[in-house]
Amino acid sequence: MRDDHPESAPGAVREPRPGSRRSFIRTGSITVTAAALGAAGASALAVPSAAAAPMTAVEAARRAGRPIALTPACDGHETPAAMEGPLFKPETPERTDLITPGIKGVEVVMTGTVYDAACRPLPGTLIDFWQCDQNGDYDTAGFSLRGHQYTTARGTYRLRTIIPRDYAGRWGTRAPHIHTMVQTPGGPVLITQLYFPDDTRAYGRDFAALNAADTIINRACTIALTGPTDGVYAGAFDFVIKTTAP
Ligand SMILES: [Fe+2]
Repeated sequence: MRDDHPESAPGAVREPRPGSRRSFIRTGSITVTAAALGAAGASALAVPSAAAAPMTAVEAARRAGRPIALTPACDGHETPAAMEGPLFKPETPERTDLITPGIKGVEVVMTGTVYDAACRPLPGTLIDFWQCDQNGDYDTAGFSLRGHQYTTARGTYRLRTIIPRDYAGRWGTRAPHIHTMVQTPGGPVLITQLYFPDDTRAYGRDFAALNAADTIINRACTIALTGPTDGVYAGAFDFVIKTTAP
């Protein structure tokens, strides 16, 4: 089943369901925080030298769809929000490994940290991940490629999954992406989508063309990808959320 529908405006968010695991949020109203990315772990980037208007490393990286190297890893820029789409399911299994029996695809191990805008790690943050499979299909009957976890005492997470496939939906062809819903203890909630660099190699697809054709993509939400090593990619993405929670 395909994703994304016109009624899901960017930044839309659902209220937590009473009695659900989301009820740990203490505030009565939830503010969606649009935010900017921390894509850590990127390699050094070449800067064009002969241009009349010199291009910065950051500009070069953005234009090439590469992750932006940040020093330090968190610079306090909030991670941008994105539409939730229609295929989020609550009450997912708590797990850090989404490669369950029957899931085939190009493996990626994602790691990162959830920070507040002051670059303080946010332990106990709930992160839901959901995505389509290697054929571009979402599991709407069960919980394949869906799961939630809580960040560690250092605010970190780790997710083993596959690179999702592109698919054709109501918003046109979607570049491969992983949906995320990040709920800090006490709020707010950040819903966004994570993308893959232009030079990603998976399923024989042209990621540069797919990224360029996607009308929803936010390059600031590009995963810093390295590898593959023995067929497994390593992905890094830090979330930065403006919050008043302690
Ligand atoms: Fe999607």
